[in-house]
Amino acid sequence: MIVAGNWKMNKNATETTELIGAISNGMGDTSTKVMVAPPFVNLAAAADSAKNTNIIVAAQNMHFAESGAFTGEVSASMLLHLGIDHVILGHSERRALFGEWDALLAKKADTALDKNMTVIFCFGEELHDRKNDIHFDVVKNQLSEGLFHLEANNWQNIILAYEPVWAIGTGETASPEQAQEMHAFIRKTLIERYDPDLADGVSILYGGSVKPGNARDIFSKPDVDGGLIGGASLNADDFLAIVQSA
Ligand code: 13P
Repeated sequence: MIVAGNWKMNKNATETTELIGAISNGMGDTSTKVMVAPPFVNLAAAADSAKNTNIIVAAQNMHFAESGAFTGEVSASMLLHLGIDHVILGHSERRALFGEWDALLAKKADTALDKNMTVIFCFGEELHDRKNDIHFDVVKNQLSEGLFHLEANNWQNIILAYEPVWAIGTGETASPEQAQEMHAFIRKTLIERYDPDLADGVSILYGGSVKPGNARDIFSKPDVDGGLIGGASLNADDFLAIVQSA
């Protein structure tokens, strides 16, 4: 199981150090992989605080180019220089608010994988897609445009995160059954494109209003391999309760 906290644009460097300290103190001997993704400016502090713990520090985004005239952007090499080799790509907020699109995300994934980084690839339908009953098509399309150009061996370094947009930050969660239904569909899609062994080996996280009160039910579903947590990852007690539910 994997439980990852996407901190989005929250916490300063001091708070980052404090929160990582509290998570590391409280997490005990769990077999769950625990990850946190602070904003770029706090990644150095985070990497430092997470040293000698089992917490993995991830970035929330990166550029595909090695370096150059890309004001405001951060490269894979810069992350790796800090010891950070996990990166979230394709979060719905990047897609909707910052105009990121499938072909761009495919390029970012290529760069990350070339650099031997692990990608947490996010995707998920919007409410109107589900209402129009095209949510499976939307998800399949996001996967094929973003990742299905990859060779099978690349998938060792990919974690999928299904995040229905209507459940992000809204307090409305997909029911455990809705999550399971989509995760099973994602695995079936991976079997069609690749093979059953590969599909079986890929971790598929659920994200969207996961809280201490609903985590256990969602994580109990057979095709749910953990969660990508937004709001509840900003509080050590809540995040730890979710880690313990995995
Ligand atoms: P919330 O848990 O706040 O709904 O956010 C989910 C998310 O977007 C994680 O990437």
